Amino acid sequence: MNPADSSSPRPRRFAATGPLTGRIRVPGDKSISHRSLMLGALAVGETRVTGLLEGEDVLSTAAAMRAMGAEIERRDDGEWRIHGVGVGGLMQPAGALDMGNSGTSTRLLMGLVASHALTATFVGDASLSKRPMGRVIEPLSRMGAAFTASPGGRLPLTLRGISPAVPIEYRLPVASAQVKSAVLLAGLNTPGITTVIEPVPTRDHSERMLRGFGAELTVEPGEDGARVIRLTGEAEFRPQTIVVPGDPSSAAFFAVAALLVPGSDLVIENVGLNPTRAALFDVLRAMGGSIEELERRDVGGEPVADLRVRHSLLTGIDVDPAVVPSMVDEFPVLFVAAALARGRTVTTGLEELRVKESDRIAVMRAALELAGASVTETEDGLIIDGTGGEPLRGGNNQPVATHLDHRIAMSMAVAGLASANGVEVDDTRPIATSFPVFESLLETAMSAA
Ligand code: S3P
Repeated sequence: MNPADSSSPRPRRFAATGPLTGRIRVPGDKSISHRSLMLGALAVGETRVTGLLEGEDVLSTAAAMRAMGAEIERRDDGEWRIHGVGVGGLMQPAGALDMGNSGTSTRLLMGLVASHALTATFVGDASLSKRPMGRVIEPLSRMGAAFTASPGGRLPLTLRGISPAVPIEYRLPVASAQVKSAVLLAGLNTPGITTVIEPVPTRDHSERMLRGFGAELTVEPGEDGARVIRLTGEAEFRPQTIVVPGDPSSAAFFAVAALLVPGSDLVIENVGLNPTRAALFDVLRAMGGSIEELERRDVGGEPVADLRVRHSLLTGIDVDPAVVPSMVDEFPVLFVAAALARGRTVTTGLEELRVKESDRIAVMRAALELAGASVTETEDGLIIDGTGGEPLRGGNNQPVATHLDHRIAMSMAVAGLASANGVEVDDTRPIATSFPVFESLLETAMSAA
């Protein structure tokens, strides 16, 4: 963000100028990018990463790892090189760690710091400073770390780590990959075995990558479909060469846009389809969306394909709450798809959406209503009665409030493309946290015909 941008919101009106066609390639996966920087920073030797997402959230992680001793540089050809400090080797940062808008950076780094004998203060923007950190403070305190947090367990907070920390067995009270990863990362520099029991499976990038770097980690089935993850501490890490696949959470916006805008036929290349992430595409197919997988392959230990998406008339459905963790970030844009479907879409089990970058249930209800959709808010989801394929009316010359939430901004941009009058988004700056090239890719896809 340049200095002028950081002080002034950047509003923009989104409207369709034509179908989405041709081929685009979305940037690297955000979750995998964060983890490659963090784990690379713990390996002695050079880790090389290509396809890293260069969004603000990931850059916050890079800055924090540098502040704790890792050498991280970007080469002119786009490859990132990391020289790590070794497991247990993180150093006292000189100042506060600025996490910007990034919950993933904050919670995973709190885990890493918890088992080092150093003190770190975490600060963030207005959105991040409202988000609950108690969910990581609780298990990390059991491991021996000490916290001074702002009221409600929020940022700014100061963490005093401990070494050696105490290994724990922790059953996740919320389905959260961030909490799971925080405990596992704390377990890396902790003697003995740290166990996380996950009643509902969440994204497993941490487990895959920890193993890749050489950690001893097992996953076994527990009771009632739970996953029991055991990590042996005091691991020695071998540097890795990592290829980051495209982010399915970014591809989601283009997939929905192509389904909704008449005449669209778009190929989205290199989309990560890890089963713990890809449920949106299954739900859209169940609604009648034409999404074809081309050339399924393996990239960096993750399943990947190109997706061919064609304009389709969607039908509303009841979304099974069991799939929520595998598409937790995709509900805002699913709501947009539902707003143009034939019939009713019912979503439940979405309580976690209320503590994301914004309260995504309330914010999307207000935003879609402004655009002319028929929406009812419940405690844990939205009920949406779609237009049956007709475009939404669009905004009434009133901008949608995005509340520093990138996914609200991009979802409502997609709603604008599927509307008669367009939709104005009050601030597009937050898009740069996860998908800096969103707007330019949109131009590419809309001008390819
Ligand atoms: C993430 C986990 C999810 C997701 C976030 C990224 C991760 O959060 O919403 O965008 O990389 O581990 P929760 O684990 O809190 O659901």
